[in-house]
Amino acid sequence: APLQSFNTFGIAARAAALVRVRSEQDLRQALAAPDLAGLPRLVLGGGSNIVLATGEVRAAVLKMEVPGLRVLEQTARHTIVEAGAGESWHGFVQWTLAQGLPGLENLALIPGTVGAAPVQNIGAYGVEQQDRFHSLDAIDLRTGRPFTLDAAQCAFGYRDSIFKHAPAEPGGLGLAGCAAILRVRYALPRQWRPELGYLDLQRRMAEEGVAAPTASQIRDWVVAIRRAKLPDPAVLGNAGSFFKNPTVTAEQCRDIIAREPQVVHYPLPDGRVKLAAGWLIDACGWRGKRMGNAGVYEKQALVLVNLGAADHPATGGEVMTLAKAIQTSVYERFGIRLEPEPMVV
Ligand code: EPU
Repeated sequence: APLQSFNTFGIAARAAALVRVRSEQDLRQALAAPDLAGLPRLVLGGGSNIVLATGEVRAAVLKMEVPGLRVLEQTARHTIVEAGAGESWHGFVQWTLAQGLPGLENLALIPGTVGAAPVQNIGAYGVEQQDRFHSLDAIDLRTGRPFTLDAAQCAFGYRDSIFKHAPAEPGGLGLAGCAAILRVRYALPRQWRPELGYLDLQRRMAEEGVAAPTASQIRDWVVAIRRAKLPDPAVLGNAGSFFKNPTVTAEQCRDIIAREPQVVHYPLPDGRVKLAAGWLIDACGWRGKRMGNAGVYEKQALVLVNLGAADHPATGGEVMTLAKAIQTSVYERFGIRLEPEPMVV
């Protein structure tokens, strides 16, 4: 089965099989199907955070398309809403705002599906999905058993969760490759306060002279900021930020500042410091560069893009070659190892 239209990078890989999953029943059938037995399974949402590094994906791809949007209940402090894993994330954010339920506006326009949001704990403009997360329902692909996880059990971190760690890792709790998320619930605060800490949002506020924005205004600003900085995957294939922002010790950061006073950095509560990977890559001269059909976005060096035509797209190999060249130059110049942010298959 061709996967080019199922990954926002637009890489033309093929899968051994592709199953569209619209219900728990569909998933059970796929797990029991004799023709899929023996194939590893790859759970796919919107394909917006994945790099298909090789042309052949030797797996049964389970494309999660479970629908559904509903308000579940009101508690003293929250309204609990639930969305099917296959709902578009941005569509879900828009729906909550249309219901008069703010809380997710800073996460507007993030590509991909609701089911993928907890996996990498999506975040933007000062909010992470873990800040609003309530619980999720999933199926264990090894046993077929349903289970529910709360926020603590998901072990959320920066672009991280239990779903990104293999069961073989120390601790043995990882669920990477072992679970398909069916539904996710979020707890939206009844006493909403805007989250305006991110510099780009403060700039907008000042420009427009608005002191107390509504959630819809914040949504509109976030959409405008994203459109200005990030390529639309429908126009230019990409998977968002290609690397995580690295964390260094205060001492390492002082060394780097001594050599590169401009380096963009954010102190963390634990004393360590997060560096802007986009700045490091930009400083190494990569912004706007091209290797084969893979390129570095001209307005944001952290985003790698597919510069090939639809009938001759970048290969996964070209993207990974460019990524390795960037990692090497950032390591040589700053002594920092950048880690890929999307899942590399
Ligand atoms: N910068 C440069 N040159 C560049 C790119 C960035 O100097 O080519 C500087 C910027 O000027 C800015 C700093 O680096 O001072 C940070 O850039 P930006 O605000 O664009 O955010 P980011 O750290 O690159 C992160 C997330 C994004 C998220 C934004 C907004 C990661 C890996 N990325 O990007 O998430 O939208 O913050 O919160 O944490 C994603 O995960 O796919 C993603 C797009």
